[in-house]
Amino acid sequence: MDFFVELREPSACSAPDLDRFKRLVRKGEEVRLQTLDSLVSHALVLALVRVGAEEAAVGALKRPNPLYRKKVFAKAGVADPERFGHELGWVYVEEAFRGRGIAPAIVGALVAHLPQASAYATSLEVNLPMHRALELHGFARAGKPYASTRPNKMLLLFLRTSVDDVYSEAAVTPKEFT
Ligand SMILES: CC(C)(COP(=O)(O)OP(=O)(O)OC[C@H]1O[C@@H](n2cnc3c(N)ncnc32)[C@H](O)[C@@H]1OP(=O)(O)O)[C@@H](O)C(=O)NCCC(=O)NCCS
Repeated sequence: MDFFVELREPSACSAPDLDRFKRLVRKGEEVRLQTLDSLVSHALVLALVRVGAEEAAVGALKRPNPLYRKKVFAKAGVADPERFGHELGWVYVEEAFRGRGIAPAIVGALVAHLPQASAYATSLEVNLPMHRALELHGFARAGKPYASTRPNKMLLLFLRTSVDDVYSEAAVTPKEFT
């Protein structure tokens, strides 16, 4: 099964394309419908996946609302939200196309498009395929699980930091020099 991840800025999408994008996003988890139109039009880039003529999946690099981002990081107990200018999210794969590596391919295409390497993402604690898709492309769990606005659901924060950040934060001395 061949699929192709197309990245497009929202301004380069037709109104019907945007409607199709949002239809799939609304099927996903943790979507705030009140702000969806505005967040989609302000997104850095949208990922659209087709299999043949069928729309199979979506994802995006979002420009998060700073206040919302601050709350997410505070709930996860993680500092410096302002270091993370983009959120990778709205990943949704239609059921018929799951289990074929589409989510990892979306994350990979979006990460390659990041202007600077750092980004964050959130995912339900139980969503192991999404964790795997993020981890395959440099994201790692950060902080502690926190309660979703939906009952009985816990979320996790994932961070991707630039190679420079990782190096300086780790401040490691290689074993062979100790
Ligand atoms: C979560 C979701 C995006 C995954 O998409 P997908 O294209 O089916 O992902 P895949 O299963 O093909 O690939 C994910 C990876 O997780 C692995 N995986 C799948 N199930 C797993 C499990 N239970 N435990 C651990 N790893 C798992 C896969 O093997 C694959 O890794 P690999 O490439 O190393 O083999 C899809 O199920 C979905 O759209 N769910 C509803 C919306 C949603 O949850 N979106 C995420 C919002 S953050």
